[in-house]
Amino acid sequence: MAIADKSATTDGKTPGPGLRPDFPILERRINDRRLVYLDNAASSQKPESVLQALDGFYRHHNANVHRGIHTLSQEATDLYEGARAKVAAFVGARQASQIIWTRGTTESINLVAHSWGRKFLQPGDEILTTELEHHSNIVPWQFLAKATGSVLKYVPVPEHDTLLGADDFARMFTPRTRLVALTQMSNVVGTVLPVKEIAEIAHQHGAVVLVDGAQSVPHMPVDVVDLDVDFMAFSAHKMLGPTGVGALYGRMELLRTMDPYQGGGDMIATVSMEKSTWNAVPHKFEAGTPYISGPIGLGSAVDYLAALGMENVQAHEREITEYALESLGKIPRLTLYGPRDPLSRGAVIAFNVEDVHPHDIGQVLDSQGVAVRAGHHCAQPLMRVLGVGSTVRASFYVYNSRDDVDALVDAIATAKGYFSD
Ligand SMILES: Cc1ncc(COP(=O)(O)O)c(C=O)c1O
Repeated sequence: MAIADKSATTDGKTPGPGLRPDFPILERRINDRRLVYLDNAASSQKPESVLQALDGFYRHHNANVHRGIHTLSQEATDLYEGARAKVAAFVGARQASQIIWTRGTTESINLVAHSWGRKFLQPGDEILTTELEHHSNIVPWQFLAKATGSVLKYVPVPEHDTLLGADDFARMFTPRTRLVALTQMSNVVGTVLPVKEIAEIAHQHGAVVLVDGAQSVPHMPVDVVDLDVDFMAFSAHKMLGPTGVGALYGRMELLRTMDPYQGGGDMIATVSMEKSTWNAVPHKFEAGTPYISGPIGLGSAVDYLAALGMENVQAHEREITEYALESLGKIPRLTLYGPRDPLSRGAVIAFNVEDVHPHDIGQVLDSQGVAVRAGHHCAQPLMRVLGVGSTVRASFYVYNSRDDVDALVDAIATAKGYFSD
């Protein structure tokens, strides 16, 4: 039987509401309203082609990978390794083996902190990150600093526009800076950082660059070779793929010198009673039976995104963001956070309505079928910079439209009416 490697079914479609029929969940009605899904920065919805790739694996090809000579194991391995090649090509990696499967961005960053950081950092070495980061690009470095005696420093973020330029990083370097760990796009205020310029400066100072691509890889063209970064972490579930899987891209020279992450099956070359030797990259970092269908689902998701074209995805999101910033900006007593220029940001908009708690706004919006997130968005240091405890956050993706922005604006008006005296 042919291997069920469903390629994208976008058939020349373009991002926008025309894609809604590809996403079965968007047919749901929530509180008797059309579902307006604006919580994409937390997790995106999945197209039929991804659902079929997951289902097709278990129905037709299920077996363990890398270890059987029987047909099913061979098919499973081909699909699993084929997905690695697709994901590598999607982010511009030269070799498929530079993609390590992980549980997601969080695990990718922890892997680098453990396998690179604990081996190479010395007391007094410095790790540079920013106040914009998600907790998953802060807490692993706090662990690492504690374990190695290294020092964690933060590039300060200006409260008024949250923009950071290469100069803001340049002035933070010292002869002890070993690692720069930065987001390419904020998951709260959408700020996009000039990663290529920052990586260049970091390399001039001999530092390694890790990019949190959780919000950039799903939403804009990303080429790790052009950006010249050393590590890039991202999650499948934010880019039309399943939860529980993601990837770490790494520069091969670094991956080769790093220690394994976990011990177990598949990551070894030889094991004796006394010692073990390691399998080649990437398998050295992938102990145990992996989440086989997860990467296959992610492979299908990147087929879908690549068929749309990431330039088109980015252009679509910029258009919606511009419209949303304009529309939300007209609402009295509503505060918008982050850059005003849609070219400096992605399609994530944080806002608050005066005297109404973000959770209350979120609940009324849900009653209108509009799904947003309310809270600190796993970015408490940034909340402190912005001088708030939490915000509402609307975030857009390939299937959203101006109609969704209008529904958001109407629902905010309803919420304001509800909470005004
Ligand atoms: C910028 C950023 N980094 C890291 C993460 C963590 O991703 P995951 O929970 O998929 O590991 C997220 C998720 O919200 C994020 O937005």
